[in-house]
Amino acid sequence: MNVVMPEVLNKAARGEKLFREDILSLLNLEPEEDALLFKLADQVRHQYLGDEVHLRGIIEFSNYCVNNCLYCGLRKDNQRLHRYRLSSSEICEAGNQAVKMGLKTIVLQSGEDPFYTGEILAKIIDRLKAETGVAVTVSIGDRSKEDYRLMKQAGADRYLLKHETADANLFSRLRPGTTLAGRIKRLYWLKELGFQVGAGNMVGLPGQTCGTLADDILLMRELDVEMAGIGPFIPHHQTPLKDWAGGEVKTTLKVLAVTRLVLPLAHLPATTALASIHPQGRQMALSCGANVVMPNITPVKYKEYYQIYPNKICLTEEATECVSCISNTIRQLGRMVAQNYGHSLKYKERVNNSES
Ligand code: SAM
Ligand code: SF4
Ligand code: FES
Repeated sequence: MNVVMPEVLNKAARGEKLFREDILSLLNLEPEEDALLFKLADQVRHQYLGDEVHLRGIIEFSNYCVNNCLYCGLRKDNQRLHRYRLSSSEICEAGNQAVKMGLKTIVLQSGEDPFYTGEILAKIIDRLKAETGVAVTVSIGDRSKEDYRLMKQAGADRYLLKHETADANLFSRLRPGTTLAGRIKRLYWLKELGFQVGAGNMVGLPGQTCGTLADDILLMRELDVEMAGIGPFIPHHQTPLKDWAGGEVKTTLKVLAVTRLVLPLAHLPATTALASIHPQGRQMALSCGANVVMPNITPVKYKEYYQIYPNKICLTEEATECVSCISNTIRQLGRMVAQNYGHSLKYKERVNNSES
């Protein structure tokens, strides 16, 4: 069937600024027009970032959490979860193995676990950087500005703090005791401290509308984020949201593709959540805007306990298997695994300017 290019896609293709109504139109394209959106997002990714895909090895170093987010399996009221913490040596060992596999970035992720004070985290980051030379992304949620400063001084390069939803009421309902304003304040702190900053949302949250999703994208543009994690909400049976329908593959891909059009330089992962709800999730995401994949390099004995959502993939595979599996997928798509750190292009400009 010959589908005519909708005007809003022509506008995006010309690189014009997209407003809220444009974003809404893109999210509401007719089903037969979606392929055109995905193709354009793929072209924009190719034009701005080339065909390299960056691998970021994620170490889920603690599943303790003081928060009670309604959507998450790690919430503190989930008493059926076996809790664990990795020592500094275990983290560095996983990091060293990752480097041997050619990974250039380690993502340190956990629940909000005050056991790891700012000082302890700084020591871990310092040691990891000294032993491995990797770029470090931290993703441990809300902290004091001082803790963020300590982590930055220890050498952390990036911080991923998903804003989850741009709807302030929904945010506070889903994350009791916290506010969207508090989350955004922290994202600005992180920028001010010199981190490359990532935000992101979940698609398919109860009470979310197309307007919310458009606002998510606009918020990320306003924050001028360097990374955006966009994945489907997957209901977890041990949480209050267990009976909700999760996010859909198609809607998640549309949000990803529109984000690529709005933030052409951003690093966008093909998320594990998407790969967990569809066997081709990664391939599809990489074909409509994504340029990052995050292999799980947590020691296998802990992996099953970090089930933020059910049916998470790769719980029994060793890091080496996942890295080679993902590398094959990337090559099959005609893309290549990046051999560099994959710092954000904006960050590189900043460093070059300060050196000249
Ligand atoms: N505790 C930190 C935080 O909340 O920012 C980092 C770890 S948290 C597990 C990482 C991400 O998992 C969150 O930003 C959220 O988007 C995602 N997540 C949690 N529960 C989820 C679910 N049921 N489905 C999909 N993603 C989920
Ligand atoms: Fe804790 Fe993060 Fe899960 Fe919320 S999303 S319960 S802060 S691990
Ligand atoms: Fe883990 Fe394919 S990514 S086995």
